[in-house]
Amino acid sequence: MAKIRRLSIARLKLPAALKRGGAAAAKKSAAAGAAKRGAGAKAAAKKAVKTAVTKAVTKSAKPVAKKATAMAVAKPVVKKRATKSSQPTPIAAPATAPLAVAPRSDGGRLSQMASGLTGSEILKIAAEIRAQMAAGATICNLTVGDFDSKQFPIPEFLRDAITAAIANGETNYPPSDGVLPLRQSLQRFYASELGLDYPIEGILVTGGARPAIYGTYRSLVDPGDAVVYPVPSWNNNHYCHQLGALERPVVCSAEQSFLPTRALLQEAIRGARLLSLNSPLNPTGTAFSAEVLGEICDMVLEENGRRGPGERPLYVMYDQVYWMLTFGGVKHVTPVGLRPEMRPYTLFVDGLSKPFSATGLRVGWCVGPTDVIRSMSNMLGHVGAWAPRAEQIASAQLLDRPDVIREFHAVSKQAEQQRLETLHGGMAALKAAGLPVDALAPAGAIYLTARFALMGKQAPDGTTLRTNEEIRRYLLNAAGCAIVPFQAFGSKQDDGWFRMSIGAVSLADIDAMFPRLDAALRALR
Ligand SMILES: Cc1ncc(COP(=O)(O)O)c(C=O)c1O
Repeated sequence: MAKIRRLSIARLKLPAALKRGGAAAAKKSAAAGAAKRGAGAKAAAKKAVKTAVTKAVTKSAKPVAKKATAMAVAKPVVKKRATKSSQPTPIAAPATAPLAVAPRSDGGRLSQMASGLTGSEILKIAAEIRAQMAAGATICNLTVGDFDSKQFPIPEFLRDAITAAIANGETNYPPSDGVLPLRQSLQRFYASELGLDYPIEGILVTGGARPAIYGTYRSLVDPGDAVVYPVPSWNNNHYCHQLGALERPVVCSAEQSFLPTRALLQEAIRGARLLSLNSPLNPTGTAFSAEVLGEICDMVLEENGRRGPGERPLYVMYDQVYWMLTFGGVKHVTPVGLRPEMRPYTLFVDGLSKPFSATGLRVGWCVGPTDVIRSMSNMLGHVGAWAPRAEQIASAQLLDRPDVIREFHAVSKQAEQQRLETLHGGMAALKAAGLPVDALAPAGAIYLTARFALMGKQAPDGTTLRTNEEIRRYLLNAAGCAIVPFQAFGSKQDDGWFRMSIGAVSLADIDAMFPRLDAALRALR
């Protein structure tokens, strides 16, 4: 009965796999499509599959897609849809091939992206630790990159300003690029503190720094574009996954304080779309020097100089959420500050979360070229990833008060530095005692990088420690020392490197941990 029509393959709801010429995939996918369309469509679909597979087998991949412009399809399939609803028929609709669903654990219920996405490894570990602590275990919790508000409260000025803003009725939608007073105060703040002059149109307020990162990726990176990021680093692998980007991780080692250099990056950035940098770095607490970052900027400028007029540029996302938290003589440096020519290619990611222990307030921002910022504002507006309005109003007031900020940091940064130095000193003492540990001197952020070179060591229960995960578990169970392996930051190497975060512990917690750690390390054979 089915009346055969001839249609362009591009307009047919045929599988992408078929268009690529893969016979097996085409068969599977066309059959899946037929199943979706229902039993009445089966005969027609069978015929479509047969024709498709024949073509896929007899032609090479590309010609199939190009030459098989006329295919047989059963009219009832099309007609049935056309008469059932007022929606455009599949013929009139743009080419949207049914997805060829590879076997997946979710049985095809989720998008491919969602089904392949993993949650935060850090939060998983942190949840385990919280549960053990709630059950009464004595643990020095060095896992989460967050703050215990009892140890690290937000500035009182900010708290009061938020309360006042709410009382003042600042409770509606904020504009999608942020309230003007905050963008203006950010403009002044960047100019005075970082020497960066940006127009208001180059400043976008976001709901914490995460949407600024997501927005940067989303605004610049197409599926298949190459993204270069150092390992260890925070979450770039997950953002790449969400975008379908081609990941180009560059492994950095302790010799470079785990920071990338021009020499390490130069192969990877060829033809890439985005270079993701972060300083001070999560997880290591180390920071770029002007020399190293300057050389990376020169490399980016040379790469963009090599690209032809029609080619898309390489951008740098510069995540500087910890820039206010540098210690000692460390001076924060930026790509645009070092090389003004980097301005068209640099997106700054920043926020209130870390410098003001305000992770729950969700105020962040992105600063960069106005065309990218405008597009990001539109895009994030659809997501609704704004910072709450009252927090924005209050943040604007805070950033205009350098005296309040100075006063706050005099206390909070000192408390952070003290904890980091106590941790570092404790690790140095263990090392000096001949135990197989190490740590890098902290330069900023709230992290210490520590090494527990315990691979191959035998625990008292007879088990041998072979992986970072096994070391993590041993230190947790034997010493109540909760830390995060570099695996949570994209590393594939079981080389004993870990992140220690100080935001949720007191000095007393750290002091009490070291004797336990000492004993646990000495118990290994
Ligand atoms: C390097 C880095 N960037 C961005 C963020 C996200 O910050 P926010 O909490 O403001 O989203 C974090 C959080 O840990 C971070 O470590």
